[in-house]
Amino acid sequence: MPHPIRLAINGYGRIGRCFLRALHESPLRASFQVVAINEPADLDSMAYLTRFDSTHGIFPGEVRQLDQGLEIDGAPIRVSHARNPEEVDWAALDIDILVECSGQYGKRSELERFLAAGCPRLLLSHPGRSAQDIDFTLIYGINDGELTGRERLVSNASCTTNAVVPVLDQLHRAFGVEHAFLSTLHSVMNDQPLIDGYHHSDLRRTRSAMQSIVPVATGLAQGVERFLPALAGKVQAKAIRVPTLNVSAIDIMVQLSRDASGAELNALLRAAAQRQPRLQAYSDAPHASVDFNHDPHSVIVDGSQTRMNGPRLANVFVWFDNEWGFACRLLDAVQAWSALFASPAEELAAAVSRHG
Ligand SMILES: NC(=O)c1ccc[n+]([C@@H]2O[C@H](COP(=O)([O-])OP(=O)(O)OC[C@H]3O[C@@H](n4cnc5c(N)ncnc54)[C@H](OP(=O)(O)O)[C@@H]3O)[C@@H](O)[C@H]2O)c1
Repeated sequence: MPHPIRLAINGYGRIGRCFLRALHESPLRASFQVVAINEPADLDSMAYLTRFDSTHGIFPGEVRQLDQGLEIDGAPIRVSHARNPEEVDWAALDIDILVECSGQYGKRSELERFLAAGCPRLLLSHPGRSAQDIDFTLIYGINDGELTGRERLVSNASCTTNAVVPVLDQLHRAFGVEHAFLSTLHSVMNDQPLIDGYHHSDLRRTRSAMQSIVPVATGLAQGVERFLPALAGKVQAKAIRVPTLNVSAIDIMVQLSRDASGAELNALLRAAAQRQPRLQAYSDAPHASVDFNHDPHSVIVDGSQTRMNGPRLANVFVWFDNEWGFACRLLDAVQAWSALFASPAEELAAAVSRHG
């Protein structure tokens, strides 16, 4: 693929904007360019929320509003405001990947509407409805080596799966995991109202996000089992929204197959962080969640909270920036995937050999 790789974003909310900004703050900005954004909101609001962000601060670059787009440090981005994939001329944008951050499309039949409308490939900021609905679900650092470059629909899984799968995998390899219970404490999201208001599929999501601790449904157990089939049927999860703006945590309770001490668990997880310092961190300092705002790791293990109840019932506590950490993994995914794309000459040669 010739550089720069051309990207578009569909859905310019928390994750769409974090993705653009993560690219801007990364050395990869020389090799990847966001050339288009599709978002139903008006351009004034899009420009404003690019510049000013209550969670991550003021955008570290020049944001200009054009007639039909944005300009970031002199690079133009075409903006459209459609709610349907067919309303955008994706083919004319000549993109390599559409980063789908609206969260509205989970089924293969829905995602294929983008392909039919001219997008060559999609990277989703959420899991597919089922494993069959996408070509590949990626957790960077776990299975990025299995990408082929021939996929058209890739999911970047969820922020919680990216955080918990590496840790469970490390615990399982070292001590065996008989059963796991995962309790996510997740910051508020835009699918909750500020004060009580209607939500059409979840009664609890009608309740004021900033006033209550709100249990919500989660597919985390199924998400984990997709990556760690050895744990199929052994994982349960629940998710609780808490009234903070960003940064989340997972309380991981595991029944181990072999005896362990808290010190051994911490030594294992500290060593794992040293092996993959971009993705995993370890700290035993006295933290609160806000310390990890704008943290690029998938997961930070808080060694000060590791507990054992007897030799086999273990409790590990991890932090993650659900917005920024995940946006950084989307960027890793774009880089790893695009490195495998065939060049136009290779694609032509493959088509000729297929069709004679
Ligand atoms: N926030 C997180 O911490 C986080 C972390 C990891 C993954 N995710 C996942 O990422 C996805 C987006 O989450 P988010 O927090 O960024 O949500 P968000 O802030 O609500 O952003 C979604 C944006 O997409 C727009 N949109 C809705 N329908 C659209 C359509 N048909 N075409 C184009 N744009 C459309 C929405 O506009 P309207 O509001 O007008 O509908 C909104 O501006 C979800 O699947 C979520 O689960 C979120």
